[in-house]
Amino acid sequence: MSEARVLVVFFSRTGTTRTLASTLATMLSADLEEICDYTERRGAWGYVRCLADSWRKRPAEIVPAGLDPAQYDLVVVGTPVWAGAVSAPVRAYLFENRWKFRHVAFFCSLGGLGSQAAFDEMRELAGKAPVAQCKVRAAEVHRGAVAAVLVPFMTVLKRHLVNYEALAWTS
Ligand SMILES: Cc1cc2nc3c(=O)[nH]c(=O)nc-3n(C[C@H](O)[C@H](O)[C@H](O)COP(=O)(O)O)c2cc1C
Repeated sequence: MSEARVLVVFFSRTGTTRTLASTLATMLSADLEEICDYTERRGAWGYVRCLADSWRKRPAEIVPAGLDPAQYDLVVVGTPVWAGAVSAPVRAYLFENRWKFRHVAFFCSLGGLGSQAAFDEMRELAGKAPVAQCKVRAAEVHRGAVAAVLVPFMTVLKRHLVNYEALAWTS
């Protein structure tokens, strides 16, 4: 039986979502890709640009992806929450690749509020319901509780992959 291929894709401005993404990729034996964009997002002006993109629901101009999501059975997409919305680089990635996804799952890091609106937008952009979604507060990541916080999400994803592999085997 061939193993399902999993890709973890993320954008991170200050490293929190990156920590989650790399932990998840290790847990799932997945490939990992960081979304990069051409906008300067550091510092106070960078913060304002992020807010403006979110308020206007504007996608960022992103560097073309190195890995093709069409080659994966499951693509797990992670974003920070910006003003109760998905980050602009992830907005662009989901929209640009929406025809290529077989199955998707979503995760986000945030201060505390706005995950559901961000997930709703991600689902709309991807044109697909996620097999699972997971929100993680930045404070938990900074406390070093990453692996423990991700276990329930990872368990659902692994169950999905086992069912998917079994189906592929019988069909
Ligand atoms: C422009 C901007 C807007 C934000 N808006 C929210 C928000 O609406 N709700 C929230 O809980 N956190 C918000 N945050 C906090 C981030 O979601 C949180 O710190 C996240 O973990 C940062 O991820 P990163 O380090 O991967 O960039 C915002 C951060 C930025 C930069």
